Amino acid sequence: MAKSILITGASTGIGAETALQLAKGNEIFVHYFSSGKAAEKVAAGVEQNGGKSRLIQADLSTEQGCRDLVGAVAGETDKLDVLVNNAGGLIKRQGVREYEWRLMEEIFALNTYSAMLVTSLCVPLLEKGKDPCIINLTSVAMRHGAPTATIYGASKAALDSFTRGIAKELAPAIRVNAVAPGVIVTPFHDKVSTPEQLESWKELNPLKKHGHAGHIAETIRFLIENDFINGETIDINGGLFMR
Ligand SMILES: NC(=O)c1ccc[n+]([C@@H]2O[C@H](COP(=O)([O-])OP(=O)(O)OC[C@H]3O[C@@H](n4cnc5c(N)ncnc54)[C@H](OP(=O)(O)O)[C@@H]3O)[C@@H](O)[C@H]2O)c1
Repeated sequence: MAKSILITGASTGIGAETALQLAKGNEIFVHYFSSGKAAEKVAAGVEQNGGKSRLIQADLSTEQGCRDLVGAVAGETDKLDVLVNNAGGLIKRQGVREYEWRLMEEIFALNTYSAMLVTSLCVPLLEKGKDPCIINLTSVAMRHGAPTATIYGASKAALDSFTRGIAKELAPAIRVNAVAPGVIVTPFHDKVSTPEQLESWKELNPLKKHGHAGHIAETIRFLIENDFINGETIDINGGLFMR
């Protein structure tokens, strides 16, 4: 049976690749914020891959944007099978001596509050889905200590904790898991990492390379399909961080 899948931040990078990989036979809600043209390409790719696409624009760093997104989804479907809380970003690197309240708010709004509120608003739709699940995108930055990305790392750690809490709260109706990517080559790094930094981080990785969006999309698919994984975070970082 066709699944209805909402992927936030599906215009580029991991979200876009996930939309394309999950497209066949499914209805994909392709959410975007500022990359309208890229989102249109993803929507066209979903259709080419045998799925139905619905494009929705919303600023998820605001409460109203989260409400508008889920309101638009609810206007098009009476159930959701999968929610991928993927929209996020580092926004700006800042050392601990220069912290600004406004930046802390922005980073937590985008990476943590939006996923929490979108989840909350989607629960009634997910309860009507078949083997419904939620997948949150966290980060290696919450694991290994990432200087100048500390606010971002903390915002993802909060999302990771949220994942486990609601995995128990929403069970057995809805499974909830997370994926914690390492360094993945996507537009994410265009604004916040220099080519030199990216090159130097390869040396820190036992595999001496970075990942690509497909590595993460494959794991999201796996978490959707395996109905005995709940409250788990899967690290995908080439061994940059090991537990
Ligand atoms: N790439 C990495 O190395 C890495 C590592 C660890 C974790 N992650 C996490 O993986 C997720 C996907 O990142 P990515 O690498 O695919 O980055 P990306 O290509 O920059 O994608 C980020 C997505 O988030 C959306 N977004 C940004 N600001 C938004 C806002 N205010 N409201 C709504 N949507 C917004 C973007 O939409 P528009 O472009 O349309 O504005 C875009 O679709 C993020 O949560 C990120 O934190 C990435």
